Amino acid sequence: MGQIMLKKSGHTGILQITRPQALNALSREIVDEMAWILEKVQEDRDIRVLVIYNEKNFAAGADIKGMIGCGREEARAFVFAPVFQKLADLPIPTIAAIEGYALGGGMELALACDIRIAAEDAKLGFPEINLGIMPGAGGTIRAPRLIGEAKAKEMIFTGSGVDARTALAIGLVNRVVPPDVLWKTAEEMAQRLAQKAPLALAAAKKTIEAGLRAGSVEAGVAVETEAWAGLFETKDQKEGMNAFVEKRKPVFRGK
Ligand code: CAA
Repeated sequence: MGQIMLKKSGHTGILQITRPQALNALSREIVDEMAWILEKVQEDRDIRVLVIYNEKNFAAGADIKGMIGCGREEARAFVFAPVFQKLADLPIPTIAAIEGYALGGGMELALACDIRIAAEDAKLGFPEINLGIMPGAGGTIRAPRLIGEAKAKEMIFTGSGVDARTALAIGLVNRVVPPDVLWKTAEEMAQRLAQKAPLALAAAKKTIEAGLRAGSVEAGVAVETEAWAGLFETKDQKEGMNAFVEKRKPVFRGK
């Protein structure tokens, strides 16, 4: 039976891993299926926001039992990074709603999302060092960008996890909420974002990424100017500005 599924609610896609007996540890099969689902999400223009929410535990990492016998080449084939990159590259906002453990590959899955909302009981970290390895699904790259080199090194070198409050303080998550309102908070955020202009969101997401990679502020701003000007070719720009002038709520169609 599949251990990952995609549901739709309005314009929100909900990706859910259902392997509670292993704390939603990510097997190669789950991640392969995730790649396929992400392609469907990309093709479905009706999905304007994606939320990843796994009940009780976000994911306690890559499946250790599935990796134990790997040599270098098998490990290379096992790696989740290309699939998580597909997630990071989706042209829609993505939200990780984190309850319980988000460790190792689970933490890296959350890091490939745009926004992280954690329940107060969440525990986040990179325990790979305790297994004799290191993060291998984007963690060493995305964590320093998000929380800075020093904090990322401390987390990755010690393998000690952080609680939700600490995660918030260091910028690893955007928000912390009581566990019983985690889903509602993520859903409300998704609904809010789903009402925004999809092409403007996609352009903003791409530009922020390009800016982070650009060698200079000037190079980043040049990309921004082009993306910004390009939005004036969209119907949503006319709709948004006309709605302002007409004192009504805009209705964006992604055109
Ligand atoms: N892989 C495979 N199985 C896992 C798992 C994982 N990452 N995490 C938990 N499980 C399984 C356990 O083996 C156990 O299964 P059995 O009942 O069959 O023994 C079940 O889930 C429940 O786990 P525990 O009994 O250990 O639960 P606990 O509450 O005592 O402890 C925990 C919870 C602290 C999260 C502990 O399970 C743990 O340390 N898990 C491993 C965390 C980890 O090291 N993650 C990183 C993996 S490597 C990685 O992710 C590499 C990468 O960069 C992609």
